[in-house]
Amino acid sequence: DRNLKIAPSILAADFANFGAEIEAVEAQGADWIHVDVMDGHFVPNLTFGPPLVKAIRKHITTVMDVHLMIAPVDPYIDAFADAGADILTAHVEAGPHIHRTLQAIRGAGMKAGVALNPGTPASAVEEILDLVDLVCVMTVNPGFGGQKYIDMTGKVRKLRSMIGDRPVHIEIDGGMDPKTAPEMWAAGADVLVAGSAVFRGGSVSDPAPYGDNIRAI
Ligand code: DX5
Ligand code: ZN
Repeated sequence: DRNLKIAPSILAADFANFGAEIEAVEAQGADWIHVDVMDGHFVPNLTFGPPLVKAIRKHITTVMDVHLMIAPVDPYIDAFADAGADILTAHVEAGPHIHRTLQAIRGAGMKAGVALNPGTPASAVEEILDLVDLVCVMTVNPGFGGQKYIDMTGKVRKLRSMIGDRPVHIEIDGGMDPKTAPEMWAAGADVLVAGSAVFRGGSVSDPAPYGDNIRAI
């Protein structure tokens, strides 16, 4: 049984008001909060790290879904666990030892996710499906919010069949809106990350563009 989850990405929130922004999306029904960590090396942009995760943890009880767009990953795993991340997702392209990285994430007490860039085939995660709780399919090249959606429905269908009975979420990240979200659900995804569709370049607490229900995105 799949249950739809919406994970607003705080990359599109008002950076000067994270506390209020996150409390507002939580009150509006966010299932998870998606935190995009970028290092200016794996992706051409810089964002934030464990201190921000720790600071927002105090404001919410919602699951914190931390998406690492960094390389290397391993030196930072314990810091994200200490900061209160619930799910830690590493890119399969971030290094030669994704198997070790995923073991270390679970070893640190978090759920483990693996993300695939648009150019990476579903087969790249075939041997690690027993080590993950989530596969994140990027539908934009990572680095920035508000980019145009790249259709990955074929990859999502392949992953859903590879995953079989395993309790593994398929998360979609990038360009989710009222048109693309239903396509991804139909293809087999169950967690939809949404940045600009939720925050629309403004503050979410400043009348929500989709009414008071985040599921309307
Ligand atoms: C992209 C990030 C996404 C991004 C999605 O590198 O991983 O999580 O915030 O933003 P939208 O929903 O605006 O495409
Ligand atoms: Zn993300």
